[in-house]
Formats: sequence, structure tokens, C-alpha cells
Amino acid sequence: MRRPLIAGNWKMNTDRAAAVGLATVVAQRAGEAPEVDLLVCPPSIYLAPVREALADARVSLGAQNMHQESAGAYTGEISASMLCDVGVQYVILGHSERRHVFGETNAQINLKTVAALAAGLTPIVCVGEKLEQREAGKTAAVIRDQFTGSLSDITADMAPRIVIAYEPVWAIGTGKVATPEQAEEVHADLRKLLVERYNGEVAESIRILYGGSVKPDNATQLLTQPNIDGALVGGASLKADDFLGIALAG
Ligand code: 13P
Repeated sequence: MRRPLIAGNWKMNTDRAAAVGLATVVAQRAGEAPEVDLLVCPPSIYLAPVREALADARVSLGAQNMHQESAGAYTGEISASMLCDVGVQYVILGHSERRHVFGETNAQINLKTVAALAAGLTPIVCVGEKLEQREAGKTAAVIRDQFTGSLSDITADMAPRIVIAYEPVWAIGTGKVATPEQAEEVHADLRKLLVERYNGEVAESIRILYGGSVKPDNATQLLTQPNIDGALVGGASLKADDFLGIALAG
């Protein structure tokens, strides 16, 4: 069975005190949701203090991005080994904001995924269609293209160590959540793509998260779909009550 993962992507929000405060509350209350794995992904500059605030609570720490090279002249970038050095376990890769605001390509995301795995991090590889692509009936093709390109060097041996997140771009930060049926359709397609690309056993082992306007009051319907194995939560992860409310729905 796949254990649900409820991940909070704090994006470029909080300050040091708010980040530490939020992490402290989530760590203290993690025991309320024993059935799920919890993960918080603060801005990179607050990873170290958030690590301390989480102490040895059963809440994991994730970064929102990284560079594929291990070191060198890459001003402003952070490597996988640097993330490991401050106690990071997960890294979100190819988030729609990285793809569409910063122009990240499938090829780059593939390199980052390989580098994350090599460093011992668990990558959360994101895919998702834009509204105009959905309206043009291109959702399945876009997801296939992003899946294939972003995981092009990931072998069947490596694949069980990744997490996939489906985040329809039109549902991110808009309050327009995908219906459970819309989300499940894409998650089931992703599971099929995993079977085709790897095999049934690998496909069954990989967690596929849904992201896009997940809130405590819509989480149960989403998380009870057969192929939805957790949530990647933006706005609602900034309030401990909402984040834990979603975790309880898992
Ligand atoms: P919202 O939950 O704010 O829609 O953000 C989703 C997201 O992008 C998580 O990575």
C-alpha cells in the first residue's frame, strides 16, 4: 500500500519567525495524523532553521528547487549536496511556476531528477496542463510529454525513489480545484504511463500527489480516489490548522 504523503509547498512566503513558528506547530501536532507522511518545503533560506524547529518529529523537510550540477560557477543556485548538508530529504522539481515563470524545460528537470536521486534526495517531479491545453483536449498529450521528458534518464531501478505530482496549472492558487474525477483520470493515466515505461510493480509503488487549491473541505474527496496518494498543498499549507486538516483527510 502507498502511504499518503501530504506536502506543504510554502513557495516564496513566510519570514524566518513565521517559518519557524509554522514548522514548530506542525511538528508538535504531527501525531494527530499518524496515517500519513508529512512534509514541509519552506523557502531555501529558511531550510536550516526549519530543520531545527522540526527536530526529530516525523515531519520531513523538502526544498522547492535545486540545480543539477554539484558545484561551480552557478551564481544564485543551490546543489543537491548542499540541501542534504542541511538535513533536506525531498526536493520539488519542475513545479509549474518553475516551468512557466522561469522557463524550465523537461530536459533540465530530468537532469535535476537524476542529480537529486544521486545525492539521496527524494524528488517530487511535477507535471500539469494549462487551461488552454485542457480546453483544447490536449491534457493527456501534455502530461505524457512532460512525464516522458522529465524522467527520460530515470531507470526502473531509480523510479521507485521518486514521487510524482499532478498539478493542473489552472487549479494552482485559483481556488478552482479539479474535480475528483478530473484528477483521478490524469492520475490513472500517469499510473498507466509508469506501467508502460517501467512495470506494474514499480508503477504500484510510486506515490502520485494531486496539487491545486487543496483545502480541508475538498481533501477527502480527492484523497479517496484510487490513484491519488497525497497532496501538494500551496496556500493552505501556510496555516497549520488547514495543513493538518488536509492531513487528517488523508
Ligand atoms: P495552491 O494550493 O495554493 O493552489 O498551490 C498548489 C501548488 O502549486 C503546490 O505546489
